[in-house]
Amino acid sequence: MDNLICISMKGISKSYRHDAKTLQVLKHVNFQVGVGETCAIVGPSGSGKSTLLSIIGLLDFPDEGDYLLMGHSVANAQSDELAMLRKSEIGFVFQHYNLIARLSVLENVALPLRYRGVDRASALEQAMQMLGRVGMADRARFKSADLSGGQKQRVAIARALIGQPSLILADEPTGSLDSETAREILELLLSIQKEQRVTLLIVTHDNQVAHLMQKKIRVRGGRVEEMGASVL
Ligand SMILES: Nc1ncnc2c1ncn2[C@@H]1O[C@H](COP(=O)(O)OP(=O)(O)O)[C@@H](O)[C@H]1O
Ligand SMILES: [Mg+2]
Repeated sequence: MDNLICISMKGISKSYRHDAKTLQVLKHVNFQVGVGETCAIVGPSGSGKSTLLSIIGLLDFPDEGDYLLMGHSVANAQSDELAMLRKSEIGFVFQHYNLIARLSVLENVALPLRYRGVDRASALEQAMQMLGRVGMADRARFKSADLSGGQKQRVAIARALIGQPSLILADEPTGSLDSETAREILELLLSIQKEQRVTLLIVTHDNQVAHLMQKKIRVRGGRVEEMGASVL
């Protein structure tokens, strides 16, 4: 059944050093997320949600514990294998969009394919299709700086999904948007999530967002606990 598990964490711990002190952010964290599942990560500010997401996204590494991503053991992987896994399996969506301002919308979306060695013409063609899917085809030639927040997040979603990853990691993706735009962005993410059967993890402060996810986990005091739908 292992092939049905997207994320498996066992005994994951992570500390940061501040001057002479050690701050233990995650303490022996255990949890699993199935392939195609949606999961909200909630918890107070500073509790370690972004740290957890960085470890899941292979941007940071635990001090101890076992992390399997799509059945691949991360602890034993070489750095080039990790870079491959990150590029092929994971799409990121951030609160502040993280688009490259000097590139056009189309070029931003094509970038993950270019990093994988896809030729420019083919990458741009696929990017155009993806922009159509998120309702942004008519802005393809714009610079990202000239878009509204909601439009930037649509472009960021297209960029995250163009490589057909198995996992989307979204860190407060609606945190900078008004409530109406936030709802539209969430609906877009969830509809593409269903189409592509991609696993989706969202860090959120918004109870309504969390309620739309199948699984909810709370990070608190370094521990991760799974919650029932009514506990939030
Ligand atoms: N790179 C880092 N170096 C040192 N401390 C960090 C680093 N990243 C996060 N921290 C600390 O770890 C704790 C958890 O941070 P974070 O994961 O960003 O929390 P959250 O996303 O839940 O607000 C905070 O106290 C933060 O200051
Ligand atoms: Mg955070």
